Amino acid sequence: MAEGPTLGVGTADTATAGRPIIVRTREELAAATSGTVALVPTMGALHAGHLSLMEHVRPLADTVVTSIFVNPTQFAPGEDFDEYPRTFDTDVAKCAEVGVDVVFAPTVDVMYPSGLDGTVRVDPGPMGRILEGETRPIMFQGVLTVVAKLFGLVRPDFAIFGEKDYQQLTLIRLMAEELCLGVQVLGGATVREADGLAMSSRNTYLSSEERALATAVSDALNAGAAGAANGADAALAAARSVLTGRGIEPDYLVVTDPHLGEPRPGEEGRMLVAARIGTTRLLDNVAVHLGGGAGPH
Ligand code: PAF
Repeated sequence: MAEGPTLGVGTADTATAGRPIIVRTREELAAATSGTVALVPTMGALHAGHLSLMEHVRPLADTVVTSIFVNPTQFAPGEDFDEYPRTFDTDVAKCAEVGVDVVFAPTVDVMYPSGLDGTVRVDPGPMGRILEGETRPIMFQGVLTVVAKLFGLVRPDFAIFGEKDYQQLTLIRLMAEELCLGVQVLGGATVREADGLAMSSRNTYLSSEERALATAVSDALNAGAAGAANGADAALAAARSVLTGRGIEPDYLVVTDPHLGEPRPGEEGRMLVAARIGTTRLLDNVAVHLGGGAGPH
């Protein structure tokens, strides 16, 4: 992990005007939070989407904590754990701009004191095996495990996650509820580039040609949302034709209900897509209002 600004071992960086305190150990973290606490978990490489989450919870809490931790247990061997962008100093400066109080930047040993193999893991259940879980079978187990640990360490009243990773948000909500974690899980609207591409730390992997093609993903969802007036099948057909028209075969393109179950005609639904542009896998989703005649996805 990238090193942050110089810190004495075991000593929290002292807050200076507008700068968050940077803490790296469990003890430093416990000493740095008080009152109502909001948590914004991240893997760093912060962009406007993350900052909007921080801005959203700022008025709700006495202490806003952002965690920056590239979590090894959610990456399978051969995935981009080593390449994942690490931009710690810039991230801290961005946190300062939106009034974050505490940046928690633990090492792997702090988060996994029993080692990566010895740790207890949270089983996401059947919802962890569909959609993203089909392509990345261990990911949600890793995400839920680290988020449960962060909840235990930070003890937040609120935690917020981007809707961009909709299945992740849905699973974290389920975990908080079913494991009675006492944390209110909020979702933050997806922030988009001017041409519609959903912001993601992985967008930096796209070449300029791929970046131009990537707009097909949000264009497809917009077409799908418009087509949804005629039901889920029409929404899917409209979205698919945008993708195939630009030579993209999605990993999945589905319409579900807002909890990732079967869509119902006349109700709110969610359209979710994953597609590979070059070697980069892009995810996106939108709310759709389903007119009559929705068939199963
Ligand atoms: O969405 C992310 O950045 C990560 O999956 C999360 C929630 C911070 C867990 O590592």
